[in-house]
Amino acid sequence: MKTRKVGIVGVGHVGAHTAYSLAIQGIADEIVLVDTNKPRVGSEFQDLFDSIPYMPNRVHLTNGTYEDLEDCDVIVNSAGDITLLLGSEDRSRELRYTVPCVHTWADQLGKTSFDGIIVNISNPCDVVTREIALATGLPKGHVLGTGTGLDTARLVSQIAEATHVNAHSIQAYMIGEHGNSMFAGWSAVTMNGLPLDEFLDKYQDAKFDKAEIEQLGRHGGWVTFSYKHATEYAIATTAAKMVKAILHDERIIMPASTELTGEYGQNGVFVGVPVLLGKNGVEQVIELSLTDEELDKLNDSCNAIRANMALADEIEGRA
Ligand code: 2OP
Repeated sequence: MKTRKVGIVGVGHVGAHTAYSLAIQGIADEIVLVDTNKPRVGSEFQDLFDSIPYMPNRVHLTNGTYEDLEDCDVIVNSAGDITLLLGSEDRSRELRYTVPCVHTWADQLGKTSFDGIIVNISNPCDVVTREIALATGLPKGHVLGTGTGLDTARLVSQIAEATHVNAHSIQAYMIGEHGNSMFAGWSAVTMNGLPLDEFLDKYQDAKFDKAEIEQLGRHGGWVTFSYKHATEYAIATTAAKMVKAILHDERIIMPASTELTGEYGQNGVFVGVPVLLGKNGVEQVIELSLTDEELDKLNDSCNAIRANMALADEIEGRA
């Protein structure tokens, strides 16, 4: 019998909520919490530990070390310093902290027998995901980021609210950088197969304002962040959905940050696009038939990521 072991690197608001989501949904049998802030991780460990008796499944929880990561099936990276985002709406402000942070664990992990999948949450998500791929040298697809998987949930929530259709009956994608240049791929939105525009013509009045809905989706994270200075539930739910898809080889299609090698005319950049997610991580990049205007937006978004990649290269002495 094989158990499902998930390691969480960085147990702040996001890491702790991800651990809770994995436990309460019965997604993982073993969860290892790893954080350099020992008092903080001790508190989170105790609180989670004491919730296990009333969880649907038994979960073995460890307050662990980097050494415990080697035999994990999936590792989630959520190491960051969210306070760096205070006063801004710019996720790249965490880069100078999160990029070097990767090397405190991923270089060593890459030298072990670890053969699982890594899901990165830390921001700027696309660039940190690339950094982990570089540090570990894991096969293509085995390192992915939550990327616009999270923003897609926000977009779908807004479309569902505006149309009064259950989110599960809506296929929509936020595409590009998990950052301000992301955009809604409106041409690909369907209401269970019916193109959005046809659905609106047939069943809705003309009040649906795409630009407004897109902005609500794009900006949702900052509304969340504005008062509690953290975002937790939506990102933890996104990460848990991805981990579940990997552990159960679900082969679902959803956006994740992955490296493009020619798809959408882009190369060598980790960016949020729909992917087929299964036991090998990103099994395939799904190429939507985007319009020329959407492809231009994707190009601009990739260039925004490339600017941050250059900064990461400079910090890590690769420039
Ligand atoms: C989020 O979008 C801030 O990246 C974080 O929730």
